[in-house]
Amino acid sequence: MLACVDDYHRAARARLAKIAWDYLEGAAEDGESMRVARSSYGRWQFRPRVLSDVSACSLTASLWEREAAAPMIVGPTGLNGLFWPNANEVLAVAAAEAGLPFVVSTAATSLLEDVRAAAPDADLWLQLYVQRDRAIAEDMMRRASDAAFSTLVLTVDTPVHGNRDHDVRNGFRLPLRPSPKLLLDCVRHPRWSMQMLMHGVPQLRNIAKSVGEAENLDRQAALLSRQMDLALQWSDLAWIRQHWRGRVVVKGILNVDDALLARAAGVDGIVLSNHGGRQLASAPAPLDVLPEIHRAVGDELHIFVDGGVRRGSDVVKAVSLGATAVLLGRAPLYGLAARGRDGVAQVLALMKAEMKTTMTLLGRTRIDSLNRECLQVASETLAEVN
Ligand code: FNR
Repeated sequence: MLACVDDYHRAARARLAKIAWDYLEGAAEDGESMRVARSSYGRWQFRPRVLSDVSACSLTASLWEREAAAPMIVGPTGLNGLFWPNANEVLAVAAAEAGLPFVVSTAATSLLEDVRAAAPDADLWLQLYVQRDRAIAEDMMRRASDAAFSTLVLTVDTPVHGNRDHDVRNGFRLPLRPSPKLLLDCVRHPRWSMQMLMHGVPQLRNIAKSVGEAENLDRQAALLSRQMDLALQWSDLAWIRQHWRGRVVVKGILNVDDALLARAAGVDGIVLSNHGGRQLASAPAPLDVLPEIHRAVGDELHIFVDGGVRRGSDVVKAVSLGATAVLLGRAPLYGLAARGRDGVAQVLALMKAEMKTTMTLLGRTRIDSLNRECLQVASETLAEVN
């Protein structure tokens, strides 16, 4: 019986080939940005209230005109077909069944259209990377709009790839090239290898379609890394608005000045994120910048936060500090890599269950009753004792 996300983490590690595991788990340089994102949750403690009628607890959260079953969104992850076949279809179905939105990555190994066909009722969002050839992004926005995606998430923290030592050590590049090391890795992880053999090596199919490229992995990989539009700037949000009528969210903000620029540009939301620690090394924990940014931009925008969310109690803490919802990156991927669709469903269900228990013990029964008064930092307690 797997009881928590960390149990799925271990099960995923056991099942995946090392090259796939390192891609999933890896972060920039020595992993500090990833570690601080996770450890930031431990710096907050709850201030529980008792005898306040906790007989009915609701996790329902408002996301503009829609409701989500909990303030959680299954976040965008590229190349996730390395963890399970048809990964995006599986994630979309599990998210929809859990009543949560799912963000499909530009670097998805499935087509937007196939994800929609697999999950007709899902609240699907598109995560956009902008290449120098703007026609590619324009085509992707058109396709997402045709497939009834509701929201666009423009990721802005990835003009270049972060320094990922593990990928360099593993010789990780697309396409995966046969080598004695890779062969040994496959032999040691037979279940993963069989799946890859049966379903084929995952491709960056989504972007390939918008480029009009045949399934040429070399060219697809080059497209993503070497051809990012490094000149992208705030004024380009006007170009996005010309091509996208739905909601616009900017992902990868860690600075209050950028949050204010996003608000001035009229976006509907921002994601405070250090990309799961995979991009800038020594980046701050998104949770640590949340209070300051929430104070500065107020409630005009939805503020989402991601990085290191592994427990329902983490979600309660983020919402108490002003987040509308969290994005889940690796947590559902651990479920996916360990057990496919069942694993994703189990991870989402247990995080909801943990949230409910936490809120009931905290004495708060609605998402909109969570606020800064629910929390204290350890130093506040110590200050009073001294
Ligand atoms: C990511 N992330 C990501 N973000 C994005 O905007 N586009 C993408 O294609 C990807 N790809 C991707 C692949 C993998 C394997 C991981 C783990 C992450 C970042 C992701 O959306 C999110 O910001 C972080 O994963 C959040 O941190 P946690 O929850 O993984 O700790």
